[in-house]
Amino acid sequence: MIGVPLAGPITVRPARRLRGEIRLPGDKSISHRALLLALLAAGESRITGAGDGRDVRATAGVVTALGASLTRTGGDARNVDYHVFSPGRAALVEPAGILDCGNSGTTFRLVAGILAGLPAFGILDGDESLRRRPMARVAAPLAAMGATILGRAGATLAPFAITGSAALRAIDHATPVPSAQVKSCVLLAGLAASGTTAVREALPTRDHTERMLRARGVDVLTEILDDGGAIHRVTGPATVLPLDERVPGDVSAAAFWLVAASIHPDADLLLRNVGTNPTRRGIIDLLRRMGAEIEERPVGTGPGGASGEPIADLAVRSSALHGIDVDPAEAAEAIDEIPILCLAAAAASGRSRIRGIGELRHKESDRVDGIVAGLAALGARIRADGDEIEIDGGRALRGAAVASHDDHRLAMTFAVAGLIAPGTTHVGEPGSADVSYPGFFDELERVRA
Ligand code: S3P
Repeated sequence: MIGVPLAGPITVRPARRLRGEIRLPGDKSISHRALLLALLAAGESRITGAGDGRDVRATAGVVTALGASLTRTGGDARNVDYHVFSPGRAALVEPAGILDCGNSGTTFRLVAGILAGLPAFGILDGDESLRRRPMARVAAPLAAMGATILGRAGATLAPFAITGSAALRAIDHATPVPSAQVKSCVLLAGLAASGTTAVREALPTRDHTERMLRARGVDVLTEILDDGGAIHRVTGPATVLPLDERVPGDVSAAAFWLVAASIHPDADLLLRNVGTNPTRRGIIDLLRRMGAEIEERPVGTGPGGASGEPIADLAVRSSALHGIDVDPAEAAEAIDEIPILCLAAAAASGRSRIRGIGELRHKESDRVDGIVAGLAALGARIRADGDEIEIDGGRALRGAAVASHDDHRLAMTFAVAGLIAPGTTHVGEPGSADVSYPGFFDELERVRA
């Protein structure tokens, strides 16, 4: 069925089999950065295959509000091509109104880093979920660099108002939690600061910002430490050059199909052009460790894959999964995939333990509570203890009504569960899938061949 109504709960019934070839939305993290770096670069940039979910559209709106002209030049149901023409960082305009980041933490935090270096006033806001998310983690380093930030009391702060400075100071900042958004925010502000800004991470996080800045002529130096941490340094003021970018398919979107096929008894799916960046591919390797039969066929970095992101086709079929232990470093690199990994663990034999998932409580919803309640309602034995989740796999799931708390990754996880759980699964607030994966539910119907 195409054009599924998404206002109320959606009904998912078990699939007899899963077959087909899937093209994914463009990687959300890379799409945001491609737009924002095009904003900072004077001249023309083209972006091919950006994800067309609501989050990336929010970033596109901000890019326009700050003075770039942006045209949608092509695309399909899930992706869009952009042509961006920007006056460059030095000539960006003060936004006339509030910058609405919607549901997107990446938009909010990365744009805050850009605004900090502009002698302008801006207000960042978002939806109810975004207003509950911790923004002090970016406000503190930006204030230390010389930006003035006024927000609500407490750690969330959002919405917040920021007056940037043309004379930002470089800082040496240790991120309090593993967060690519905080790292990226400070590095983007560092482009405008005089001197060398350093960001220290105890656990490595996705490195798209560093790669994409380097590809645009900015020297980002990364030092990997013996204890597994990293220091990233950028010296400002630095100029970002325009570049054409081809965005690979989103591995976080691919994760739903990797798990769907692995846990379904009669499945064979081919996922095309998936980004397999070493700092993002954790879910592929964790599933393989659980016994998933995933064949990876590298297809290079793709024409115009300017930032050198590796890309592969992934073939996945029905597999006999067993439980695993996931350590905090692995959890940090697969943080968006933990909900769907929990479903894989529920369908696997034996016990799985996932440690270091505290940050999951601060995503679009409290994903620890959401995944525990949803999978338990579907019959799984799952519990959370501190920043750890434990799952005793192998219990037969059964259809149930589950709340997704308007969180895209929970909605898609429960929908995938519905493909294998006998009976009927009703997934609440399914429209949230559009945040990262427009057309997800159409694809779900298409692959049940
Ligand atoms: C993202 C980083 C992660 C991730 C989010 C996208 C990014 O957030 O959860 O979906 O694009 O930098 P944190 O950096 O807050 O962990």
